[in-house]
Formats: sequence, C-alpha cells, structure tokens
Amino acid sequence: MVEIIGVTKRFGANRAVDDISFGIGSGEFFSLLGPSGCGKSTTLRMLSGFEQPDAGSIRIAGQDMTSVPPYQRPTNIVFQRWALFPHMTVAANVAFGLEAERRPAAEIRQRVGEVLELVGLGRFAERKPGQLSGGQMQRVALARALVKRPKVLLLDEPLSALDLKLRHQMQIELKRIQQDVGTTFIFVTHDQGEALAMSDRVAVMNGGRVEQIASPQELYDAPSTSFVANFIGHSNMLPVTVERVEAGHAVARLEGAALRIAAGPTKPGPATLVIRFERVRIEAAAAVTSPQPGPAKLTGTVRQMIFGGSTVQYVVGLDAGSLDITAEHPHAPGVPVFEKGTAVALSWRENDARLFAH
Ligand SMILES: Nc1ncnc2c1ncn2[C@@H]1O[C@H](COP(=O)(O)OP(=O)(O)OP(=O)(O)O)[C@@H](O)[C@H]1O
Ligand SMILES: [Mg+2]
Repeated sequence: MVEIIGVTKRFGANRAVDDISFGIGSGEFFSLLGPSGCGKSTTLRMLSGFEQPDAGSIRIAGQDMTSVPPYQRPTNIVFQRWALFPHMTVAANVAFGLEAERRPAAEIRQRVGEVLELVGLGRFAERKPGQLSGGQMQRVALARALVKRPKVLLLDEPLSALDLKLRHQMQIELKRIQQDVGTTFIFVTHDQGEALAMSDRVAVMNGGRVEQIASPQELYDAPSTSFVANFIGHSNMLPVTVERVEAGHAVARLEGAALRIAAGPTKPGPATLVIRFERVRIEAAAAVTSPQPGPAKLTGTVRQMIFGGSTVQYVVGLDAGSLDITAEHPHAPGVPVFEKGTAVALSWRENDARLFAH
C-alpha cells in the first residue's frame, strides 16, 4: 500500500530523515517509534504531502506521489491536537469534509451516522465539542478523518494529550476501529508501550534512520541493535570485554567475572552486554550453595528496593567493581522480597543476554 524508497529530508545541514526505505502492507497497523526529534513527524508529513523529500520517492497504492498535492492523496491525517470547530455539532464537524466535496445530503447523513457508530459516538451527534471529554473529542477527530475513507490514515501522536488511563482505553479502542474498517494505519508515537500494544509492525527510528522493523514480539525478543534493545523495554547495558568467540557462544569479562553468552555475530574486544531487568535472577547470597553448573553468578548488595505494586525492582551494586545491575520480579505470594542491604547473587540464562560489539 505504501512504499518509501530511499527518502531523505534535510532542514539546512540537519538530515531530519536520512535515506529510509520500507513498505507497508494494505490493512496493516504500522507504527513509527523513536525518541523526540528522530524524524517521525517529518516522515508522516512527507506521506501526507505537506513536506517534499529532497531525495527518494513515495508510492501509495501503486501511484507515485511526487507531484500529487496533499488534498489529492488517498491519505488523511489526525494530529495530537484535534482542532474541532467549537460552534458546530459533532455531526457537522464530521460532515464538514464531505460537504466540501459536495456530496449529496443523503449520502453525507448516512456516512456520518455510520462513522459515529464506529467510534462509539452515535448518541453524541448533536453535542458541541465543548460538551465532550478529551477522549470523546479525539474520537470525533478520528471520525472526521475516517469519514473520507482514506486508503491510508496517518496519526501523529493522537493520544498523547489524554491522561494515562484514558490513553490505555483509547489504544484498545483505536485498534478495534482499525480492525473493523481495515484501513492501513500509520501511527507515530514516542511511547514504546503504545507501539507494542497496537501495532502489527513497528519501525524504530533514531537520528533520521530506521534501526529495525519488526513485529512487537520480535523487537522485544530479538533487537538487532543496542539502541533498539535499550529503547524497547528496560535493559541493563553493561560494558564488557569479549575474550573469545566460540561456536555458538562468546566468553565476556564483566568486572572480573567470566560470563558465557549465547552471542550473535561478535568479535573479541569491548562490547555492550544487554540484559533485561526481568531476566536477571536474584537470590539471597546465603541460599547459594556448592558451585552449580551453568552461567557464572555475580554477587552484590541490594542498594535500592523499589516497590511497584505488581513488580519489585532491585538495584544491586556488584561486589567486584562499581557497576549496578537492576533486576525486576513479579510481586506475588511466595516470592521473597529482598530489603536494602541484603547480600544477593545474580544470574541469567545464557540465551537471555545479548552482546553488541562497539
Ligand atoms: N520545518 C522545520 N524546519 C527545520 N527543522 C525542522 C523542521 N521540522 C522538523 N525539523 C527538525 O527535524 C528533526 C526531526 O523532526 P520531527 O518533527 O520529524 O521529529 P519527531 O520524531 O516527530 O519528534 P517528536 O517526538 O518530538 O515529535 C528535528 O531535529 C527537528 O528539529
Ligand atoms: Mg513529532
């Protein structure tokens, strides 16, 4: 449905978008995820036609978009701030775009009715925006974009003005609506939880470039760069020295301890070992008996215990050296809680750690 081919956008000397290429399938819920300033909105604006690439091309539904102005593209866009007309009813706000196209009145009435049902606002057609909640106003903005039946709907952080709870509800709702209409959605967010929860696939962007494109689960389980590993979820990023690489694994030294790691392609030398908080096992040091086969254990002391309700986080200072390692565990009956000052042993399974060469 959408093909982005070698697209670059410069503002002065700044490459806001730097030679990106990928395709998005029909009916896909696709997210652009990355930190502030990485080029997400610029990419979306080039898709909508409000911005022109300096190099490369964009095709939508098989048609080159280079000389197609925004209003003739099969796209529509929803922004973070939903500029509704305050003096007009919900129905009139939604009908506005169709009236501009001079559609017959009966068709407009029918399409507006359908789309308001779709977004769950059937009963609110005659209200004014001032009589709606933030979540309801965002639904109106969505209805106004969908009523024109774009082939591709572009959404630029549409939920970021909502409070956390409403935001979670709207994530589920938006995904449901997308599945109902089957329209291709391209959704921009800097919130990884949001992107993981809603998307079929996610492109992680950094400094104008695409670091990885994958399903949420793949991004989480198999990040291809240390940036992605750090950006998605919560990970320890530990400086290590890779001593040797053998068939299927590497041996890396962390503050004196030799660790076996099931490694991807890597070579001897300095590297970053990435291990997710929830993959770090933590036990009372006293409970560790005779040397066990398996990965080396690191010993340390709990510096901080952070109680989060369903989970507990521990920041552990290693005995050897000055590194801290964070572990996170579910808080459940029968799972011990380690207070600050407890001597503990840390370990993880070989396959849970990842190595990224510098
Ligand atoms: N019209 C413009 N003129 C000059 N520089 C711009 C313009 N628009 C964007 N930029 C720059 O291009 C880079 C990418 O901006 P963009 O708005 O695409 O980021 P973003 O990923 O959407 O960030 P955010 O999450 O903060 O919205 C930034 O460095 C920004 O300052
Ligand atoms: Mg933006």
